[in-house]
Amino acid sequence: MTDWMELEKKYYMRTFEKVRLPVVLVKGKGARVWDDKGKEYLDFVAGWAVNCLGHSHPVVVKALNAQAKQLIHTSNQFYTVPQLQLAELLMKNSCLNRVFFANSGLEANEGAVKLARRYGKLKLNGAYEVITTFGSFHGRSLAMTAATGQESFHTPYTPMPEGFINVKNNDIDAIKAATTAKTCAVMLEPIQGESGVIVPDVDYLKKVREWCDSKGILLILDEIQTGIGRLGTLWGYQSFGIEPDIMTLAKGLAGGVPIGALLAKENCSVFVPGDHGGTFCGNPLACAVGYATLKYIIDNDIPGSVKKVGQYLMEGLLGLKKKYPFITEVRGRGLLVAVEFNSEIAPTVLMACLENGLLVNKPKPNVIRLMPPLIINNKDVDRAIGILDKVFSGIVR
Ligand SMILES: Cc1ncc(COP(=O)(O)O)c(C=O)c1O
Repeated sequence: MTDWMELEKKYYMRTFEKVRLPVVLVKGKGARVWDDKGKEYLDFVAGWAVNCLGHSHPVVVKALNAQAKQLIHTSNQFYTVPQLQLAELLMKNSCLNRVFFANSGLEANEGAVKLARRYGKLKLNGAYEVITTFGSFHGRSLAMTAATGQESFHTPYTPMPEGFINVKNNDIDAIKAATTAKTCAVMLEPIQGESGVIVPDVDYLKKVREWCDSKGILLILDEIQTGIGRLGTLWGYQSFGIEPDIMTLAKGLAGGVPIGALLAKENCSVFVPGDHGGTFCGNPLACAVGYATLKYIIDNDIPGSVKKVGQYLMEGLLGLKKKYPFITEVRGRGLLVAVEFNSEIAPTVLMACLENGLLVNKPKPNVIRLMPPLIINNKDVDRAIGILDKVFSGIVR
């Protein structure tokens, strides 16, 4: 039998060495996945918050099959139906007016920053700086690495592209202090995901919105992790009572098929022909699956059920917090939740969960993050809480 882990060691660049677990996944269905030895796991990672309808959902599979038979790819010289169906669905169900499709989160964010700079050139006397926050994560291209407010991402690649100002998170005064005549936009995640689910103060985003309005600068929301129902609202911004000028999406938009999207209000949709593009952007296969996935999410009020099951998960985790004093905090919204410990036990917890058939993620050495498929039910939550309880009871603190 082929040793896949050995093959990875031999041929693959070493980029994933820190996160790879000793498991070869071969199959998925609903909220469950199976490894090559037949062991079953409950998946509370969902491919890093991607598999929003779970694994191999019939709606995703049907759309993939149908579009694969019809038209997989053509260039943007031509109009294609799925691209425009998905565009219309997004516009009819959000506060934004225009879309550009990309292939990943970082690409959508790159597009957003280019659009903001274009806006700066046209309407803000050439302003080009974008303010972002410490602890944020916006992707891995050079520009998005600079936008990401984490020094450790910058160090291996300095010098960083200029034009990004990283400031303290959840601090409106820090944004105010960093705003100058060179500022064209503020770019934020409604909830910082990769930093361990950092939920801002209730009025923070409202204050940022007001500040951007008063200065005439743009507010870009990176909803790559928080969008598509994850917080219990279709878009994260609805959870915070504001509207962005620009919003970026990726991850769950096509239920597991790579796609990204950059959405903007009409007044800042200032790209002119030739400003932006990409071979695979708006690819019919990805857009057809995106259309089917998003339509299912909207038609079946998946955000509403995320709210309920998310509440149930939160209650279960708070119960565990009462029982295990080494849990210092349980936080999050909907199905984006983190458990923080008083010491760096997250790697031990993650491995013990794996052993017991539960997949979790560890964004920090003292934090685990849960971001299951949006279609999980209370029984799945009971099972996850049962496994966590068992794992925690084996941890002496
Ligand atoms: C908030 C946020 N922005 C951007 C990205 C980058 O997306 P991608 O990995 O698709 O480039 C991520 C990925 O985790 C993310 O969570």
